[in-house]
Amino acid sequence: MFNKLAVASILSSTASAFTLPTSRTSTPTSSSTTLKSTVDPSVVTKKEYQDICGVEFDDANLASRLQKTSYLYPKHVEVIEDFAPLVDKMVDEILLETGDKAWQPQDYLPDLSVDNYMDSIKSLREAAAGVPDDLFVVLVGDMVTEEALPTYQTLLNTFEGCDDPIGTTDSPWARWSRGWTSEENRHGDLLNKYLYLSGKCDMRSIEVTIQHLITSGFNPGARKDPYRGFLYTSFQERATKISHGNVGKLAKEHGATDLQRICAKIAGDEGRHEKAYQAFSAEILKRDPDGLLMEFGDLMRGQIVMPAELMTDGKDAKLYENFSEVAQRLGVYTAIDYADIIQHLVDHWKIGELTGLSPEAEKEQEYICRLPDRYRKLAERSLNKKKEQEVVPQSFSWIFDRKV
Ligand SMILES: [Fe+2]
Ligand SMILES: [Fe+2]
Repeated sequence: MFNKLAVASILSSTASAFTLPTSRTSTPTSSSTTLKSTVDPSVVTKKEYQDICGVEFDDANLASRLQKTSYLYPKHVEVIEDFAPLVDKMVDEILLETGDKAWQPQDYLPDLSVDNYMDSIKSLREAAAGVPDDLFVVLVGDMVTEEALPTYQTLLNTFEGCDDPIGTTDSPWARWSRGWTSEENRHGDLLNKYLYLSGKCDMRSIEVTIQHLITSGFNPGARKDPYRGFLYTSFQERATKISHGNVGKLAKEHGATDLQRICAKIAGDEGRHEKAYQAFSAEILKRDPDGLLMEFGDLMRGQIVMPAELMTDGKDAKLYENFSEVAQRLGVYTAIDYADIIQHLVDHWKIGELTGLSPEAEKEQEYICRLPDRYRKLAERSLNKKKEQEVVPQSFSWIFDRKV
């Protein structure tokens, strides 16, 4: 049961910590309507209504109370709320296409509803046959990563201030979270169907891997902090753009232009998402450069964890390592890319030019600006070492244990 006095005192003590969102969280939502249609408030007393429905708060009150009482980073939430109008604009106008304008997986797949559907499947399979197994392994790994989208949406909703406490919350941040997810959902869907139609993969084994990955989860080290969350996604969206783009280029070299188009389309989405998350981080930087730099430095010391790190097919204990090894060998995503992405972020946010920082943040600034070169040196050293080593072919259950 709620102790109203205690709640009231928490509310008044935290109210000054940050301003209330000016967003549309106050719009009545469907769940309160459902309650009213189940129990008609006009035929019961207020006390009877509360006895039946438990709480007297409607969704908007509940959401606002949850926000006020549970933040670990009230200052960070205040900062991201401050540029919510820009997020709103991005959702509607710049970033996320919806409805008829949106591309859908079916636009890039054979239409099985037509009489001569076999012709298009046949040509897809003929082109796929020319794609070497190692590239297919990387494609499967990328697809498995995309298919663990439930994990990423869950994580996005842990970033304080951009969560969707009700499920239909009408704030810019909650709409961003759902809109982003709706776009990402196409990626795994499209790749999954392509791989299925190609006939080159053990789909069951791939499905086992996806189920394992979603079950295992993934910890990007965001710690519910929106600053860390957007730093992470700024990096990660660029990494996936690079990876899908390179798979597409290689697919084209092997004659699979349909696969190239698919990968390019997905890479295009990742590119738009990358821009958005980097813009969010830039807005934070304008308002709280010290705060963002402290988190950036700390996040980089822990290194950027890849979303599919915990993938397993239940057989190969080193599946993720083996998959990344192949991706690295093909040049789809390498340690050099890791260094380049950090460099891109440092340049894009003009980290080196920031002034007026606290002494601690200045230290982080220096550390961050030196990182790309350090990583590049390490990457070159390890690439040279690998060149001298003999490649030991690994079998992958995803392609019926063929070795690559
Ligand atoms: Fe994606
Ligand atoms: Fe993405």
